Amino acid sequence: MDDFLPTPITTVDIPSQPQLYPIWLQAGVLSHLGACIRSVCPNSSRWLVVTDETVGSLYGATVVNNLESSGFQADLVTLPCGEASKSLASLETLWQAAQHHGLTRHDGFIALGGGVVGDVTGFAAATYQRGVGFVQVPTTLLAMVDASVGGKVAIHQNRCKNNIGAFYQPHAVVMDSDTLKSLPSRQVAAGWAEIIKTALLETTAIPNDIAQLANLMSDHSLDSTHSRLLDIIARCIAVKQAVVAADPTESTGHRMILNLGHTAAHALETVSGFGLLHGEAVALGLRVACHVGEQLGVWSPQASLQMDTWLQQAKLPCSVSEVLDKEVHFLLADVLKAMQGDKKSNSSGLRWVIPTATSGQTLGAVQIRSDVTQHQIQQALTHIGIG
Ligand code: GLY
Repeated sequence: MDDFLPTPITTVDIPSQPQLYPIWLQAGVLSHLGACIRSVCPNSSRWLVVTDETVGSLYGATVVNNLESSGFQADLVTLPCGEASKSLASLETLWQAAQHHGLTRHDGFIALGGGVVGDVTGFAAATYQRGVGFVQVPTTLLAMVDASVGGKVAIHQNRCKNNIGAFYQPHAVVMDSDTLKSLPSRQVAAGWAEIIKTALLETTAIPNDIAQLANLMSDHSLDSTHSRLLDIIARCIAVKQAVVAADPTESTGHRMILNLGHTAAHALETVSGFGLLHGEAVALGLRVACHVGEQLGVWSPQASLQMDTWLQQAKLPCSVSEVLDKEVHFLLADVLKAMQGDKKSNSSGLRWVIPTATSGQTLGAVQIRSDVTQHQIQQALTHIGIG
């Protein structure tokens, strides 16, 4: 039995939650997954490992074997790859598997994969027997820097992104940076979009590293960049952790700042039928938000140029003509309509998270604006080649 318990990089403390949850981030930590889980859920005996076809074929057996050698019973459930798996049908598959394998309230689900697997597995964990154990094991850069921390879990409904879901904090997050070595370059780039978003929120430490690292990473030089990448992932987690701890359920509005770039991004993802990766949509959405910021006079063209350079260095699209999936077409009317269904709307209309380049070097240098006009939105969409 593996008894070695690595040291977490941090512990997330959500004031309204009974438990703190540790985050482990290091190369090779997956080989100590059982010990990590035993330290947070000592009374558990059975875990359902949920993954997708790609990640399952790479790491599924290793994870199940590790859990079994740590004395747990473990079973693997494999979902199809892609956003279509964030569905009621997947939830039913997971609930039934949990029942079939006799999961009790002391046991739980492990999400082994990217944001899709994490979101649907977390919602299954939140709802099965009114809430069971949940451990996030993110294997994509995007899930490590954003999706696996903070407890947002959801499925899509009628082409409406993340419309059915919950806030359900994990019991632990275990990130093995070695899994990034098998990540396709398009997925690596997608992860950089959330890093660049976080850099705009943080404005201090991360930006210095983006230019060099994004170039290196998208050329698959993970070995040479490993320690610096771990550092950047840890800093993104620190930013997210601070925001989530202050507003875990987005009730005060503060957590909305994490949705910088996401108003347009979610609409673009929906219109693309999820042919666009979330990170690619965020890259385009950041450009839209920045252009709106320029029109409102709170963001400078120079700052936009800086961000565009980062997006290019990370090999992210700056306009819809650069989107890799050529089957995807973006009609202005469709994008505007998709925006109306955005969860960030309130009774006074769409709320935009707008970056500010003038408000000092503080965390969350953004404004939440409800006064963005239709004309300004259309101008910003033209800027990414729509309309
Ligand atoms: N990804 C945005 C959030 O977790 O609030």
